[in-house]
Amino acid sequence: MDKKPAPRAVLFDAYGTLFDVYSVGLTAEQLFPGAGDRLGRLWRSLQIDYTRLASMGGAYQPFWDLTRAALQAAAEQLGLSLSAEAEAQLMNQYRHLSAFPENRAVLQALKARGIPTAILSNGDPEMLAIAVRSAGFGELLDHVLSVHATRRYKTDPAAYQVGVDALGLPARDMLFVSSNGWDAIGATWFGYQTLWVNRTGTPLERLGTTPHHQGQTLRDVLPLIDSLSSHHHQQRG
Ligand code: LAC
Repeated sequence: MDKKPAPRAVLFDAYGTLFDVYSVGLTAEQLFPGAGDRLGRLWRSLQIDYTRLASMGGAYQPFWDLTRAALQAAAEQLGLSLSAEAEAQLMNQYRHLSAFPENRAVLQALKARGIPTAILSNGDPEMLAIAVRSAGFGELLDHVLSVHATRRYKTDPAAYQVGVDALGLPARDMLFVSSNGWDAIGATWFGYQTLWVNRTGTPLERLGTTPHHQGQTLRDVLPLIDSLSSHHHQQRG
């Protein structure tokens, strides 16, 4: 076992981790019966592809714009004709994603323990502000951080650096929590302690790196924080 400091802050990914990206599937299914799930998945997949292409190519566009472009491309690839109304309806749904049900209690518990919390997301500041407001998480998060100013997307180190700069702590003193396996791996590369909340039992990406911890819901953050803290105190004492 390597000796890691007890985490002094917790950073959360937004989309898929705090906010349920597949909740758009219901609207998609209403618009395109029988193809809603496929559309939702391809949309998400192209959205992330586009962030990587834009970031690597030095051709940054805000996450909102890439999200819309990915929706149009996904519909086109699936042979679905996307009306302006349907596009507006799905984009509006994306703006007001549902939060996973356990999240509020977890954020409250971290606050009660005096541990600072933040979102660190590819989302642009306006999208994140609306999502945080609609979920009612405003008072529960100390920072809502976007990669936007860096013009780089995760897994670029510049994107993960935003958390270090805002919290004023070294990456290894913080726990980064993501439901996206690739994001948990990127954060591990960068130097954060990491928890992959693998809600759907997805196989690990084969990139030669495993996140430090794995869980199934956001609730798994609390016992992990408690055990890392008490382990640390025992080692000291
Ligand atoms: C985010 C995406 C990756 O919130 O889920 O950064």
